[in-house]
Amino acid sequence: MRSIPRVARAFAVAGALTLALAACGGGDDETTSGDGGGSEDGGDEIVTVGFVAVGPEGGWRQANEANVQDTFTEEAGFELKYAPATNLDQRSQIDAFTSFVDEGVDVILLSATEGAGWEDSLQRAQEAEIPVILVDRGIEPDDTSLYVTRIAPDNYEVSTSVAEWAVSALPDGGNYFVLEGPAGVSVVNERNQGWDDTVSSIPGLVKIGAQTANWSTEEAKSVFETILRANNNDIQIVFAQNDEMGLGAAIAVEEAGLTPGVDVQIATIDGTKPALEALAEGRLSFVAEYNPLFGETLLEVVDKVLNGEEVEPYIIVPSETFDSPEAATAALPDRKY
Ligand code: AHR
Repeated sequence: MRSIPRVARAFAVAGALTLALAACGGGDDETTSGDGGGSEDGGDEIVTVGFVAVGPEGGWRQANEANVQDTFTEEAGFELKYAPATNLDQRSQIDAFTSFVDEGVDVILLSATEGAGWEDSLQRAQEAEIPVILVDRGIEPDDTSLYVTRIAPDNYEVSTSVAEWAVSALPDGGNYFVLEGPAGVSVVNERNQGWDDTVSSIPGLVKIGAQTANWSTEEAKSVFETILRANNNDIQIVFAQNDEMGLGAAIAVEEAGLTPGVDVQIATIDGTKPALEALAEGRLSFVAEYNPLFGETLLEVVDKVLNGEEVEPYIIVPSETFDSPEAATAALPDRKY
């Protein structure tokens, strides 16, 4: 689990709040250096950015990667080389990373499909003096000397907000099940830690189990219908680590003849439109945003890094939570993803 000293985190949050409020403005903020190019005087040389990306994975990923591509444009002074993984395979990411190092790009952005196994690649980039910025996903073990910074919402805080809601939603306790993302992904471990550190101290909340559904609605439906049958429907809360899995759990609850939000409460992470629409309808009970729209912050950080300026080792993107149909209904008109 990545643990950040509170002081560092406080600075990171302060730094992020300045940088990221621009991001939350939907990408047309005036605080970004904006001239791109990464040069001291905003010169017109093109900065090449190698983006080792995840590729098709769900609504959150699509929003995040589109936002990065819409930000690092030629007009902004960048040539973005987008390299999505082949079928989420880390080997294809390592190959793309190596190609970017060999090519001598100016900066590499990495959204890692797996947390482990990046040391050699990151050391090669370091030897080539190419800065690496982690986008969303971290590495494990977390050696902050191997990359310049990580930009993401704080998974530990986001999952803690879900756990705190669960404790309040079940004052008399109850059984819960966790639908996890894929094993080996950094954010899954961070989300488990945030949830466990809060829920484990509540004796009335009983863990029935946890299982990956690989971010997928279909797989989550299949997993949870099996869990409901095996436990005679006696599950009161589902912590789904992303929206798609939470929506799959809701289908399983309905197909079991139960009512989501009444018989089983489902909490998710991401904050995509489909999840907020489901929350507005009462099919989900809590949605914690994991804000994917931080391209402006990322551009600001790339400019700073290429200009030799210091940046925090972890730049936290602020995210909000939605705990009622009214909150979801109010937010939906302005949602950008
Ligand atoms: O790393 C972020 C996670 O990856 C999102 O929560 C999930 O939807 C995506 O697939």
